[in-house]
Amino acid sequence: MSTRIICIANQKGGVGKTTTAVSLAHGLTQKGKQVLLIDLDPQGQCATALGRSPEPGVFYLLTMGHTLQETAFLKSWVRLSGREGLYLFPGDQQTMAAQTVLNAQDQPISAIRQSVSRFFREGLHYIIFDTAPSVGGIQERAVWASDLVIVPTATEFLSADGLGKVLRMMSILQERKNWRGNLLGILPTFFDEQTRESKATMENLQEKFDASMLQPIHRSTLLRECAAEGKTIFEFDPLCRAAKEYQALAQHVMKF
Ligand SMILES: Nc1ncnc2c1ncn2[C@@H]1O[C@H](COP(=O)(O)OP(=O)(O)OP(=O)(O)O)[C@@H](O)[C@H]1O
Ligand SMILES: [Mg+2]
Repeated sequence: MSTRIICIANQKGGVGKTTTAVSLAHGLTQKGKQVLLIDLDPQGQCATALGRSPEPGVFYLLTMGHTLQETAFLKSWVRLSGREGLYLFPGDQQTMAAQTVLNAQDQPISAIRQSVSRFFREGLHYIIFDTAPSVGGIQERAVWASDLVIVPTATEFLSADGLGKVLRMMSILQERKNWRGNLLGILPTFFDEQTRESKATMENLQEKFDASMLQPIHRSTLLRECAAEGKTIFEFDPLCRAAKEYQALAQHVMKF
């Protein structure tokens, strides 16, 4: 199997993108897959969620060329996460500067795909992108680079706003930029059937997006706590509902 790229995207902040990227990445490795998690968000939170420090790898990834030396240098930024099969390509606030460079150089929509294709290899099953809650050049190139996109969406009022923007961007990329990837699904997060808001939003999403809906991730304090401790949910409490839900997501993703 060749390496597949999955992008976690939503322009709305705090909807569970990083939590999903990290949990899905670790969930896939627990099913025997090898995964490289690339942190395209200047907040650098993939590193902290895995108990590491943010580092400027992504700055170099987005600004360097394709010589053998550059590729060797970039490969030296791949970090062992301390979990079997899970590798991290760290980012930090310098990623913001890389975005300015991408835009100033008017880099093509294919720039990120070209840049990460150097990591494709037999045995690396997935590359997962965590992205920032903003647009500005990186996000659309990251989506274009991807085979599949997951859009986490908090089950709260106004959530459709961010969702609509990502979906529109995806159709524009398909129609005008020859993007060959697809939506893997909309992932409802922070779901709580006890609250009217969460239930109503869920029904609304289901009505509008029916076949694209993934099984929801419930609101779980454990997800917040584990990130604060630099542990994934599978390390923190492997039997809790959130762990089971993210495990099920990993299982589902493997069907694509
Ligand atoms: N299902 C959930 N239940 C409860 N808390 C959650 C859940 N998912 C994520 N969180 C917590 O909510 C906060 C925001 O989540 P996360 O950082 O994953 O969102 P994000 O979309 O990546 O945010 P940003 O847009 O800032 O990058 C974090 O503290 C995280 O631990
Ligand atoms: Mg995030």
